[in-house]
Amino acid sequence: MFNNFSRSIGEWFKKVGRSIADGFRATVSFIAHPRKTIREAKEARAAMINDVFDPIEHNPENILEVNSLKEYFPIKSGFLKRTVGYVKAVDGISFNIKKGTTMGLVGESGCGKTTVGRTILRLYPKSGGEVLFNGEDVNKFDKKSLRSVRPKMQIVFQDPYSSLSPRLPVGEIIGEAVREHNIVPQEEFDDYITKIMQSCGLQEYHKDRYPHEFSGGQRQRICIARALALNPEFIVCDEPVSALDVSIQAQIINLLRDLQKEYGLTYLFISHDLSVVEHISDSVGVMYLGSMVEYAPTAELFANPLHPYTEALFSAIPVPDPNYKMNRIILEGNIPSPANPPSGCKFHTRCRKCMEVCKSVIPKRIDMGNDHYVVCHLFDEEALKLNEEMKKDPSLAENADKKLKKNMKDAKLNSTENPFM
Ligand SMILES: Nc1ncnc2c1ncn2[C@@H]1O[C@H](COP(=O)(O)OP(=O)(O)OP(=O)(O)O)[C@@H](O)[C@H]1O
Ligand code: SF4
Ligand SMILES: [Mg+2]
Repeated sequence: MFNNFSRSIGEWFKKVGRSIADGFRATVSFIAHPRKTIREAKEARAAMINDVFDPIEHNPENILEVNSLKEYFPIKSGFLKRTVGYVKAVDGISFNIKKGTTMGLVGESGCGKTTVGRTILRLYPKSGGEVLFNGEDVNKFDKKSLRSVRPKMQIVFQDPYSSLSPRLPVGEIIGEAVREHNIVPQEEFDDYITKIMQSCGLQEYHKDRYPHEFSGGQRQRICIARALALNPEFIVCDEPVSALDVSIQAQIINLLRDLQKEYGLTYLFISHDLSVVEHISDSVGVMYLGSMVEYAPTAELFANPLHPYTEALFSAIPVPDPNYKMNRIILEGNIPSPANPPSGCKFHTRCRKCMEVCKSVIPKRIDMGNDHYVVCHLFDEEALKLNEEMKKDPSLAENADKKLKKNMKDAKLNSTENPFM
């Protein structure tokens, strides 16, 4: 027991001692060469994040354009809490949303859906890439412009209870930000709140009640009314119905659709319920471990899923036919850590169609026509050819990624080009 104790004390000293020595070295270096030290730290961070992308040209049909967006959360370690790595929650994803439409975002728990929504709204500072809202980069807004654009971009959270203040009556919850942003003149305030509440299926007498006096579905209506009251153009709906029972889910989904028609709203609809996404979305993006692996218009994607991950996800959708035999694809293993994603294709550790080339070469997007894109070697002739060569000569694996990139360069393809524009 004493041995164990002394060993753990020794290890602790080793760790802390090293951190203190590192900290001391960093302080001395900063005092001696402050500019050089700051530049080197910035360079080290930039190398880890590798924020490289081609800027996009705004298309006025789109309300939102996301280009190579990255959100890396730092992993701190040691006595001085230095950054030793990053959780790559969102790792270079790109997509557009047309005005007045809904894009669904699906994927397993932890794949980065919420982080995408929050980074778009600047609730998290982005690590890389760009987000254009009506053609303007949201990350370049100063405080004043951000304040004026905030009401136009709203979010509805998954848990309607924890996102409502228990101490305020509903009229005040909905009206607080309306007053703050001067959405309507003071004399019209009461009528405006009543109108918004009614369009969300709430009654005027609900104004004086507190959140705990409502059912789950009614609370979600309050959250939607709160977002709607700011006269938004774009709403991130982050799993808005997953905490509700099925009959209430349908009511809320129909409410969101009606409001979209009435107010011309655009939604990013995050969910892992594929039936709900199919019902409400015009297009769907499928995420895996911080990357978008497939994107297509909803009908096209549900009729013809191409990526092995999408196939596995869709095979779990229940079919309302007792004679139908479900052919469910079970994904083996756990979702890998986004701090240390697998090399090559991030999905290769769980893919039943994995080939040799998938283990070392990052797949590029393939345009399958009909606005359908997939990021998988199975649809890339170049990669399939390389896979055949690798089977004959396993030593090729070491240089495989370089070779594919050279082939892509020769064919004038850019691996950093925006995959879903
Ligand atoms: N603030 C944070 N700090 C560090 N890591 C975070 C933070 N927020 C999210 N993460 C990590 O980022 C990854 C993506 O998380 P995110 O919440 O975006 O997933 P999700 O797809 O929305 O999952 P779910 O379907 O369960 O809501 C996860 O590995 C999570 O642990
Ligand atoms: S690239 Fe390979 S591992 Fe990745 S999804 Fe396609 S077949 Fe599977
Ligand atoms: Mg989430």
